[in-house]
Amino acid sequence: MAEENLKLNILVLGAGDRGTLFGNLAPKFDARIVAVADPDDKMRELMAEQHNIPPEMMFSSGERALTSKLPFDAVYIASPDKTHYKLAKLALDNGYNILLEKPMAVTPRQCASLVRAQEKSGKCLVIFHVLRHAPFFQTIKKIAESGELGDIVTIDLIEDIGYWHFAHSYVRGNWARECDSAPIILSKSCHDLDIISWLADSKAKTIFSNGFLRIFKPENAPKTSSDRCVDCPINDCLYDARRFYLDHKPPVHWPYRVISPEDASEEARLSAITNGPYGRCVFKCNNDVCDNQDVIIEFENGIKANFSLRAGGEKTTRKIFIQFERGELNGNLSRGKITMIRYTGRRDEALVEEIDTQELGGHGGGDPLLIKSFFDDIRSQNYKSSLTSAQKSLQSHLLAFAAEKSRKTGSLGKVIDFKRYIDDISTKIFKKRKKKSKISKNSVLVTTTRKVKNSKYRRRKKRKRKNKKK
Ligand SMILES: NC(=O)c1ccc[n+]([C@@H]2O[C@H](COP(=O)([O-])OP(=O)(O)OC[C@H]3O[C@@H](n4cnc5c(N)ncnc54)[C@H](O)[C@@H]3O)[C@@H](O)[C@H]2O)c1
Repeated sequence: MAEENLKLNILVLGAGDRGTLFGNLAPKFDARIVAVADPDDKMRELMAEQHNIPPEMMFSSGERALTSKLPFDAVYIASPDKTHYKLAKLALDNGYNILLEKPMAVTPRQCASLVRAQEKSGKCLVIFHVLRHAPFFQTIKKIAESGELGDIVTIDLIEDIGYWHFAHSYVRGNWARECDSAPIILSKSCHDLDIISWLADSKAKTIFSNGFLRIFKPENAPKTSSDRCVDCPINDCLYDARRFYLDHKPPVHWPYRVISPEDASEEARLSAITNGPYGRCVFKCNNDVCDNQDVIIEFENGIKANFSLRAGGEKTTRKIFIQFERGELNGNLSRGKITMIRYTGRRDEALVEEIDTQELGGHGGGDPLLIKSFFDDIRSQNYKSSLTSAQKSLQSHLLAFAAEKSRKTGSLGKVIDFKRYIDDISTKIFKKRKKKSKISKNSVLVTTTRKVKNSKYRRRKKRKRKNKKK
């Protein structure tokens, strides 16, 4: 059978919003969802029904499916953030290729351990860093690599999460509390730190961050507001769940379908906001993740990057501004538009080019392209070329952890020496394991682990020499 016609059999872990999206896209690239695992009976059954999955291929937990020894070509992991490490590790240990949702894991140790497990297994572990595949960022990367504007000097990236998206996911939803998922700089903005790392194409040298929760807290609730929108007397609240979840035209897609996935009728959605988490007053949700955060990164190659996460914005988008030696690029992801400006050396004169990268699909077109590229890798058994392998995704995750450490140190944040930060965590991982790390040379983490080891070794030798002299 020709390679490109090989039907891939996929196990999906987590039949929620992302699992459903993947289930819709995968068949377009000659793959079928043959098994599903989800502890939620309704979600599991919905996916099974959609893909004609027989009962013996339905599992009540990811763990059960992964130890079933069934021959899947790949596993797609779209369960909650905190479960990623355990499931991905188990999948690698059982010899499966994996497409893993971001964040790859929620601690530096877990991320490093996954990279190590992937290298050991020789299997494919791709992280769903969808933005790298989006035509918008692909275009920017190509221009940067072509060198036509010279080297990059600075990168400024703003993520407008969108006021309604922030309220939905990071105030009322699954990512509202750090203890339930992760800090927002990891759970949401590992995408952005990844894009910055990819464009800078260098190891980070220092990182600084500050940020806090400003809007969505009890002291900002209007005095007469209720705990739930359905009985709230305030009628001009931007975040009124009745307007947002009920008062819109079909089709009922994301994010409306999230509140009542098994029944999209208006009655079911009214019931969901009357009784469920998505009908709570946004000022009384017990949420704690930042609604604004800034990160400044200096890279070893001299590039400086500023990243700003904002809860506001009419649209969910990214705005980027890159200054090169001989020109600049600025663009808006949701519009798919990039403006390229070449300097000419004369005042009030520049060569301006407008580039339109608009494509269909989620995240500016990246979702289907990433899925296709993952399937291509599996079919060709070429596991090293992936644009978003676990190894290539490691730096952005570690940057997120370091940014959070910076933000939480002192009232205004603290500059973190990234190399030293990596050394420290490498030493901790190294000590605990008490054995030589096997992550390859290219890994940002273990290159420095070796250095730590070497410097320790040198210190020990020096001490021995001194003792001998005595
Ligand atoms: N790549 C992206 O751009 C992107 C976008 C959105 C979300 N995500 C990530 O995708 C993941 C899923 O997000 P979602 O919006 O679909 O969430 P969701 O809550 O809609 O779905 C998660 C599903 O996983 C199930 N689940 C829980 N524990 C499980 C286990 N041990 N094994 C199998 N299933 C389990 C839940 O019952 C639920 O149905 C999250 O990690 C999220 O951060 C990535």
